[in-house]
Amino acid sequence: MTHYGVGVIITLLALGFSQANGNIFERTFKKLHEEPYVPTNQNRADEVQTLWIEQKLDHFNDSETRTWQMRYLLNDVFFKAGGPMFIYLGGEWTISNGFITAGHMYDMAKEHNGLLAYTEHRYYGESHPLPDLSNENLRFLHVKQALADLAHFIKTQKASYEGLSDSKVIIVGGSYSATMVTWFKRTYPDLVVGGWASSAPVVAKVNFFEYKEVMGESITLMGGSACYDRIEKGIAELETMFANKRGAEVKALLKLCEPFDVNNDLDIWTLFNEISEIFANVVQTHNSGRIEGVCQQIMTGSTDLIGVSSYLLSEFGKASGSTCYAIMKVLLDTRYNGNMMRQWIYQTCNEYGWYQTSSSSMQPFGTKFPLALFTTMCADLYGPQFGESFIEDRAAETNEYFGGLTPEVENVYFSHGQLDPWRAMGIQDEKQATIIPEHAHCKDFGSISNDDTPEMRASKERVAELVREWLE
Ligand SMILES: *[C@@H]1O[C@H](CO)[C@@H](O)[C@H](O)[C@H]1NC(C)=O
Repeated sequence: MTHYGVGVIITLLALGFSQANGNIFERTFKKLHEEPYVPTNQNRADEVQTLWIEQKLDHFNDSETRTWQMRYLLNDVFFKAGGPMFIYLGGEWTISNGFITAGHMYDMAKEHNGLLAYTEHRYYGESHPLPDLSNENLRFLHVKQALADLAHFIKTQKASYEGLSDSKVIIVGGSYSATMVTWFKRTYPDLVVGGWASSAPVVAKVNFFEYKEVMGESITLMGGSACYDRIEKGIAELETMFANKRGAEVKALLKLCEPFDVNNDLDIWTLFNEISEIFANVVQTHNSGRIEGVCQQIMTGSTDLIGVSSYLLSEFGKASGSTCYAIMKVLLDTRYNGNMMRQWIYQTCNEYGWYQTSSSSMQPFGTKFPLALFTTMCADLYGPQFGESFIEDRAAETNEYFGGLTPEVENVYFSHGQLDPWRAMGIQDEKQATIIPEHAHCKDFGSISNDDTPEMRASKERVAELVREWLE
């Protein structure tokens, strides 16, 4: 989960792009928001059914009678009448068969003769409540509506699926869908016996500067403090060049495309935000050796500036090409175009904030992606009412409604990766949550394996043990 900023008047930052993969923004954004790490070793022989269920457009307004079809997946290979239902909750991505044909939840369904389901979140993937994503139509995109969709799904399955009427239900999620696990258990405690929330942010916070702080700590921990220092100094030098009217040199150095305006704050902020996002992608999705490898690459440069900029160029260069895309154009496109940025950014502006700004000095990515970048983007995309105080009010409402760090839920297991910047918005105290050392975001969904670190294995075993208790 992360973001891009833009202003209407400006065109975007615009590093290279390729026709096939979209520009660097889209690619990085997509990677940070894709379906959490899908377990490998999928049992492809299992027949996964793709099904649709009718849902109300608005669960909270009886005069609104429109309905739509929500997609879900089912795998009944282990199911025996009376067995539990395990539901993996979709978040801001397109659902796929992976989670219900492999991994730890799959193994638990096997142990308990459970039915496996995977629900798609409204407005993502193929689950389209309305034909497009106009501002008017985005009104029905809200986590409260998505939780109500899930409640209706569970009640309908229990009433209609043979052998499920007395079954217990367990829910599982990663990242935003883990947030949903927590909030579903709070809002509809009687519909599920327990849940597993991996990497759940549960506090809405507009200025989420802590994200970059944890990133910095993770880089130091895995890549060494020399790497952190080099990133900090290299980025500071780039900032100084803009300040000293040497923006054109940066433009040439990083091969920024036209029409990047070296005198426009929004262009500059967008550039530095994107630079930090490239590092966010490394840290948040880290698998063993990744951060270390990037640090090695950066440390080979003869100076801080060369080390950092040559790494950035290598990232930008993977989307080679010389034409510029204006990101605004992508985000103002109200069609479902396979890109979830318009929907997700709307949710942040309207529910959570979670803008990963440069406000803290305890991080190496400089000072040039302030909160104003993100609030400007909200207003430019979704209407002038989305000013900073409105966004603050919306986030405060989310915390009031769902309880923030004290959701007061029973039977929810919280796991986090130590390296994952999102954990700063999660429940981390050791009585309630497990923090798995040297792992990143949503890395614990695979089957229990000999490759697991002892802490990873212990956490997965704890989940299995709790599920046994909840199903007793
Ligand atoms: C409820 O739905 C009706 C019918 O679409 C609409 O006219 C009305 O404005 C809605 N009320 C609210 C509070 O959204």
